[in-house]
Amino acid sequence: MNVAILGVGTVGNEVANVLIRNQKLISARSGMHIVPVIGVVRDLKKARNSQIPLTDDIDSVINRDDIDVYVELMGGIEKPYEIVSKILAKNKPVVTANKAMLAYHRNELERLAGDTPFGYEASVAGGIPIIKALREGLSANHIQKIVGIMNGTSNYILTNMMQRGVKFDEALKKAQELGYAEADPTFDVGGFDTAHKLLILASLAYSVHAKPEDILIEGISDITNEDIYFANEFEYAIKLLAVAKRRDDKVELRVHPALIQKDKMIAKVDGVMNAVSVSGDAVGESLFYGAGAGGSATASAVISDLIDIAREVKNPMLGYKAPLEILPLGLFKPNEIKTKYYLRLKVADEIGVLANITNLMSQNNLSIDSFLQKPRTDKNSDCSTLYFTTHTCLEADMLRVVGLLEKENYIKDKPFMIRIEE
Ligand code: HSE
Repeated sequence: MNVAILGVGTVGNEVANVLIRNQKLISARSGMHIVPVIGVVRDLKKARNSQIPLTDDIDSVINRDDIDVYVELMGGIEKPYEIVSKILAKNKPVVTANKAMLAYHRNELERLAGDTPFGYEASVAGGIPIIKALREGLSANHIQKIVGIMNGTSNYILTNMMQRGVKFDEALKKAQELGYAEADPTFDVGGFDTAHKLLILASLAYSVHAKPEDILIEGISDITNEDIYFANEFEYAIKLLAVAKRRDDKVELRVHPALIQKDKMIAKVDGVMNAVSVSGDAVGESLFYGAGAGGSATASAVISDLIDIAREVKNPMLGYKAPLEILPLGLFKPNEIKTKYYLRLKVADEIGVLANITNLMSQNNLSIDSFLQKPRTDKNSDCSTLYFTTHTCLEADMLRVVGLLEKENYIKDKPFMIRIEE
């Protein structure tokens, strides 16, 4: 089986390397000799240690008759979508790691592919076989909840901030040096990369085909040392979470930093590692843990798709052979989310301020679960930081309170909230 690799960067190189290194094993497992015959790059002058011939002429590769499968690792959204569409139009199988393209175009790609194999195991959580888990191993279940840590860069940053007191920028720089971050790291720290992955899982779990603009996406860049202090003090970890949660006949899809009690297993997932917890009505909770980024782990997932193609495995691309007619699930709007919250407020330390805040909260259906105010030590400042956590409430109510607080003179900094995941 001849393979062309479109995009030979860190991952593309590793796909070729592992195919060559593990050739005998892969042949025995797949029943075929899977050969990376050509790689396409944008700039041939860039030095690479490629074990396969390279070209910058993508059209010539797409038009070759001797290529059996194309591996798309170019990155971007519209350009790869155009190229993959052309390849599928020729009924040639495609394997991709491109989560951004899938976040926007997975439904069109499913239609274009029809019966032509289309693999994307590497698009979510790198080396963790979570696509297979949802599409195959857990296919008997109504999925009640998915909670994932699916961006290694953000998890690396948050772990370093919590455990070592490292500043945000410094931790980001290190993650970039280690090769985990996206070309534009705002995709990582802004939550978009995680959201792309969540949307792919939501299609498999619920047949809900949302786009990034339909869901709540918040990143980690506003988290301060004060939040880290509170989290450590109250035995919470802070993680950038992807959450998919079914409530009645609708699904919440959201990406945001979250406080999670430190004794939860997912709270212990540190550094660049990823984890996805899936709760199904029959199976209960399953937790998948592994490397979510990096060339070798991602190549492992890409090659598993190539082996499936060689074996002629026929799985419906997005997990459904027929439309889900029983109970089509809707999507909650972001302000219909229900969860608990942590709220940090910098206030003027004056009579009546706390009473005013708690009144505002109670008038807007917020019930306080805990409260912390440290004695003021800085004699030169007349401000205090107040920390609240709430019982479960509606996002719309929380946002209204934050909006009302912002207008109060005693509020000295933008109020900041973090959702709490139970
Ligand atoms: N930038 C991603 C991460 C790479 O940090 O997890 C894998 O998608």
